[in-house]
Amino acid sequence: MSRLVSDLGKDLVGLEPLSANQIRTVLDTAEPFKEISERPIKKVPVLRGKTIVNLFFEPSTRTRVSFEFAEKRLSADTVNVTAAGSSVVKGETLVDTARNMEAMRIDMVVMRHIASGAARFLAERIPSNVINAGDGWHEHPTQGLLDLLTIRDHKGRIEGTRVCIVGDILHSRVARSNIYGLLKLGAEVGVCGPPTLLPVGIQELGVQVFRRVEEAIEWADVLNVLRLQLERMQSGFVPSLREYNRFYGVSSARLERAREDLLILHPGPINRGVEMDSDVADGPRSVILNQVTNGVAVRMAVLYLLAGGTPETAESAKHAAES
Ligand code: CP
Repeated sequence: MSRLVSDLGKDLVGLEPLSANQIRTVLDTAEPFKEISERPIKKVPVLRGKTIVNLFFEPSTRTRVSFEFAEKRLSADTVNVTAAGSSVVKGETLVDTARNMEAMRIDMVVMRHIASGAARFLAERIPSNVINAGDGWHEHPTQGLLDLLTIRDHKGRIEGTRVCIVGDILHSRVARSNIYGLLKLGAEVGVCGPPTLLPVGIQELGVQVFRRVEEAIEWADVLNVLRLQLERMQSGFVPSLREYNRFYGVSSARLERAREDLLILHPGPINRGVEMDSDVADGPRSVILNQVTNGVAVRMAVLYLLAGGTPETAESAKHAAES
């Protein structure tokens, strides 16, 4: 693993800059890594000696824990930094924080940040690999990749699959990463939500807009349901959560018109009873926890590739033993 520029380049800031082949490379590399998490001893020495800093400047459960598991299962040394417990609260800038980490000789930074563009901004200023774990409204590339892997697992392919993203598209970095990734891999993509929560000109990306969730459900092979990002809204985007649920909530009654094999995804956290009812979230069509499981394998693949690994070497890497 000595190549200076990986199959993905230096950083992963989004799916928009990646080619279809680069996206397939991550998905294919994740396949052999899935099995490591099923072992009694979930560890291979693939990233032994690498030091990774997880900078989480915004709340996270799934992404933060998933990256940490992925790093530890590949034997990297990891340090977690949150805004509240760091010198950010004393006014230190993002670049100063990262440069101080680099002075301690790190290799990679995984970062979640409230500001769109923060990951690219940092990637252009430090030599370490930077992985975007979600930046503002911009992108959440590893979420997009794990969603793609979960769809491919269950549908056998991405190309030609009809995927509708339902909910708050405007504020969603998950929606953007999904749209870029799905379109590059040949899926048909729809979006559905209140007009106030759809970005102006979204059709220009090559997606179909559904005004009524019932139409979206009839059309789709996969629904990726998003939560209302209330923390990013000023006010007035929806009249009330009850009203939102009445017009856009995914319920068992609405799913009666769906294809028999319709798949339900949600990136989490779920607001049960708002964008999705509990019996749907926990029902037979739901693959929400499969997404979470796949998240660890996808993040292992991204870390491995950025460190210079290839899909061809991933199979033997997972059999590597401690010496
Ligand atoms: N899907 C996702 O990003 O969840 P967290 O905010 O809990 O990381």
